[in-house]
Amino acid sequence: MMKMQELLIDRDNYRNTKIIETKSRPLVDGEVRVAIDKYGLTANNVSYAVSGDMIGYWKYYPVDSNNGVNWGKVPVWGMADIVESKCNGVEVGERIYGFLPMSSEVIMRPGKMKAASFVDIAEHRKPLPELYNGYSRTAGEPALYKTLENERCLLFPLFMTGYVLADFLADNNYWGAEQVLIGSVSSKTGFSMAAFLNSETNFDGKLVGLTSPRNEAFVESLGDCQQIVTYGEESEIDSSKKTAYVDMSGNGELRNILHNYLGDNMVRSIGVGATHWEERRSGGKMPGAKPEFFFAPAQIGKRNKDWGPGVLMQRAYAAGAQLANRTSDNLNVEFLNGMEAARDIWIEILENKVSPKRGIMVSLKKQNTGFYVNT
Ligand SMILES: NC(=O)c1ccc[n+]([C@@H]2O[C@H](COP(=O)([O-])OP(=O)(O)OC[C@H]3O[C@@H](n4cnc5c(N)ncnc54)[C@H](OP(=O)(O)O)[C@@H]3O)[C@@H](O)[C@H]2O)c1
Repeated sequence: MMKMQELLIDRDNYRNTKIIETKSRPLVDGEVRVAIDKYGLTANNVSYAVSGDMIGYWKYYPVDSNNGVNWGKVPVWGMADIVESKCNGVEVGERIYGFLPMSSEVIMRPGKMKAASFVDIAEHRKPLPELYNGYSRTAGEPALYKTLENERCLLFPLFMTGYVLADFLADNNYWGAEQVLIGSVSSKTGFSMAAFLNSETNFDGKLVGLTSPRNEAFVESLGDCQQIVTYGEESEIDSSKKTAYVDMSGNGELRNILHNYLGDNMVRSIGVGATHWEERRSGGKMPGAKPEFFFAPAQIGKRNKDWGPGVLMQRAYAAGAQLANRTSDNLNVEFLNGMEAARDIWIEILENKVSPKRGIMVSLKKQNTGFYVNT
């Protein structure tokens, strides 16, 4: 019987981690064994932990025994291979893309089978949003997709959000804003939104990116913001302009400063993420537009009606591929191998020690003997 390794994260203290090694359990009818090959890791995965209880991300891969610690598995986007199958219609050797745990393998129960996809219909996943239960079966995909595996893991889940955000703003005529402020603009979600406001929606106002001093040069190198403001220097922003704030940082104090500074000229304030995950969330009572949380499925649903099912996502994919190509010189994709490396980079991301120039891919492929090896 094969062994498997998993990375557990303490749900009450994300810095506390544990690598466990267990025997793989035998499959029962209807199940497949999936060996995880590689995945992307960014601040978005930290946000899955932060919002894990509220949104249910901990429930995708529950931990059986806790031994007094509130262990959980943080999901990632990655590529994996079917290495054993007791499910009619899913063959050993198939390669899939989707939501995975940071583990060397996982067992799934494929259902709702189509040529290009299936859904993991395991009992515990049924109540969870189907978006995360769906897997792309890559065999029949266009050849181009095969060359974009790393981009799919590392960039596309974030670029898709950047695209939908840009579309949401454009669809609402930017609520009359003359400038758009993007909080934590060095994030993939943030800089892709800036890029798409330029290349896709042709926003003709001013794009202002907010970032840390050490990430300013990176944002500058991308060339999508007309102004870059570092945290603490918010008074450099033109407060006479009607402004929409789209925030990936989740930093309540920063939001409060911006709302008080812009007053009634803060015409929209949209929270998207929480890269500054240790900061206070709430901004307290503030002037200007009431802060709201971005709900991508609502805009995707609207465009599916406006443009036809899937058209928005097709456009987002195409624009994402172009952006990935354009930014390939700014972003160095780095492969880290094995579970110890997976744990170490998790901690580095928590500690904000990873430059936005580094695109982190974790490969579980080159495991020591005893684990699944996909060569
Ligand atoms: N609501 C949605 O549908 C949705 C979808 C996708 C993503 N998101 C959210 O968007 C955010 C960005 O995700 P991403 O994967 O694009 O991020 P990313 O590329 O990993 O972002 C890296 C940047 O985030 C900031 N950062 C990272 N770790 C930090 C830490 N520990 N403390 C303080 N700042 C830190 C830094 O930017 P600065 O120096 O510029 O602040 C850093 O350059 C996440 O919170 C994610 O959950 C939301």
